[in-house]
Amino acid sequence: MKYMEKIEKRKSIREFRKMGLPAEKLDEIAVSFDSLHRLLPDLPVELVICTGDTGERLEGVAGYQGKSFMAPAYLILLSEKKDHYLFNAGYIAEDLCLKLTEMGISHCWLTVGDSEETKKAAGITSDKEVVVVIACGYGKEEPKKKRLDILSPSNVQFRERPGHIAPKIAQEELVFQNVWGKPVDWEAREIDPLLDKSFYAASLAPSFMNRQPYRYILKGKLVILCVKKEEMTSRKDTMLDAGATMLNFDAIASQQDWVDWVMGAPDGIETVGIPDEYDAVASYEWD
Ligand SMILES: Cc1cc2nc3c(=O)[nH]c(=O)nc-3n(C[C@H](O)[C@H](O)[C@H](O)COP(=O)(O)O)c2cc1C
Repeated sequence: MKYMEKIEKRKSIREFRKMGLPAEKLDEIAVSFDSLHRLLPDLPVELVICTGDTGERLEGVAGYQGKSFMAPAYLILLSEKKDHYLFNAGYIAEDLCLKLTEMGISHCWLTVGDSEETKKAAGITSDKEVVVVIACGYGKEEPKKKRLDILSPSNVQFRERPGHIAPKIAQEELVFQNVWGKPVDWEAREIDPLLDKSFYAASLAPSFMNRQPYRYILKGKLVILCVKKEEMTSRKDTMLDAGATMLNFDAIASQQDWVDWVMGAPDGIETVGIPDEYDAVASYEWD
């Protein structure tokens, strides 16, 4: 399955059938982990797959309001704590979610409150930090109505998509050109159709409470990612959200040649007019 197809198809599912995932599917997930794309390839990460009564043990520990959804399996991503490790974790976890989508396995990220508590509940011994928990299994379709616990920022134009309950911020409002707030002229001939597609893919990434706490600025050939300091979202979830949107952008923009993101604010960022509640966190040279 091509990346764009997986990105468009991916969605969170929160109700699971009791039937467990067959051993060969769990093996396929474990084996695929080594070939998932990484933002920081040298940063040690590890995937632990937990089955059995893990759902009961994670109840009250991970997920919105402590809801773990009693899934037959949980994929727990652990990482060493180094610079940008949460961006890296979000990036890898989104690639993992796209792999699950390709395998026809339903899944949903669960927010992690306390890493030590999560390790204890899941029976994991490791010096690394729990960065992502993904509940997975064979799912049931979500009810068509929007969930009350998925909030969306106000005053923003959204795009609904058939078959998906979580709308996404329209690309026109997610990406600015040259200065903050100035819409991109998508009709102009100078916007590369592949860049347009990459922003569309970036707009479809999962995010905590569907808040999408980021915006992109296209400044000449430079794509700048800005992340919001949100009251409703922890710093950890915000960085994971950013990692997930970076993976989607890269998956389309980079074609064969992965990971062109450079972490940190690029030179000359003062001229872009980024508001105080946002920080420029990474950039990508478009050629
Ligand atoms: C960092 C992160 C944490 C999340 N935590 C939870 C969670 O605890 N419970 C939950 O039901 N969904 C969780 N989600 C899933 C989001 O609610 C979901 O991505 C969002 O509503 C958009 O829906 P979609 O994934 O179908 O596009 C999380 C997503 C991310 C990226």
